[in-house]
Amino acid sequence: MSTDHNRDVFDSERVAAAYVEYAGPTDGFLDRGEAAALVAAASVARGTPILDVGVGSGRTTALLRLISDRYVAIDYAPTMVDAFRRNFPDLQAHVADARNLADFADGEFGLIVFSNNGIDTVTHDERVRVLAEFHRVLGESGILVFSTLNRNGPSFGEKPFQLSRPTQRFTFSLARIVTAVGRRLLDPAGVVRSVANWWSARSRVVDRGTWAVAPLAAHDFAPFMHFTTVADVRRLVTDAGFTISEIFADDGSIVAPDVLASSADNFTVFARK
Ligand SMILES: C[S@@+](CC[C@H](N)C(=O)[O-])C[C@H]1O[C@@H](n2cnc3c(N)ncnc32)[C@H](O)[C@@H]1O
Repeated sequence: MSTDHNRDVFDSERVAAAYVEYAGPTDGFLDRGEAAALVAAASVARGTPILDVGVGSGRTTALLRLISDRYVAIDYAPTMVDAFRRNFPDLQAHVADARNLADFADGEFGLIVFSNNGIDTVTHDERVRVLAEFHRVLGESGILVFSTLNRNGPSFGEKPFQLSRPTQRFTFSLARIVTAVGRRLLDPAGVVRSVANWWSARSRVVDRGTWAVAPLAAHDFAPFMHFTTVADVRRLVTDAGFTISEIFADDGSIVAPDVLASSADNFTVFARK
């Protein structure tokens, strides 16, 4: 698998088209954790320059423009940047990779947002590089908000034919079975892609307990993502020189500093330089 497997996934017309939908009339927060973190960030980062990393077609753009007019978007997938430019022709957007922000100066931004588990596309070691770049281009007391998938949450270890998600209790329901079978009948090509992607990724799954890499069910199991745990993400962020203000679970609850395990689907981290 090429190191840019995930960039190829997000650079495909099919995946970019799915994100154009998100940035349409359904603009909004992805979950309550993202909402809580961005509301908290707004009060301290108002008016400062914002870097929206992995912008896709711009779901977060209107939300972040409410915080500041000084807004720059980047994505490493040119197809996504094209989609973004169609949605927001007047805004600044660049093809750039979070692992190398050489186009940006030290201390240039007051707020960096990498939403929707975008950081999970890079390897465990490359996450350190991404956080180092974020630290470099953030100014004094700059704010970092990013979300990341949880290895102990329901998105880890999903399978194409499951009737309930991992970590969620299976309860027999005829309606659920009919819905699951119906969905697959409506998109047989999607089922074939899902099974093929999931099957070919099986041998590459790594599970170290505190973190893992595995296929994600979204986009027919094509993305091969990193999954963290509370301990792992705390270490990543603090080792990069940030102070964690809050970690939010996807339901908006705070993952308290003494909590050692969580079954949230993802975490949104709100940290300060
Ligand atoms: C799950 S999508 C989310 C898009 C958008 N933020 C949203 O919430 O709708 C992740 C996006 O991050 C981009 N991305 C992933 N890794 C990246 C990296 N290393 N540098 C820049 N962009 C990246 C992908 O191309 C994709 O557009």
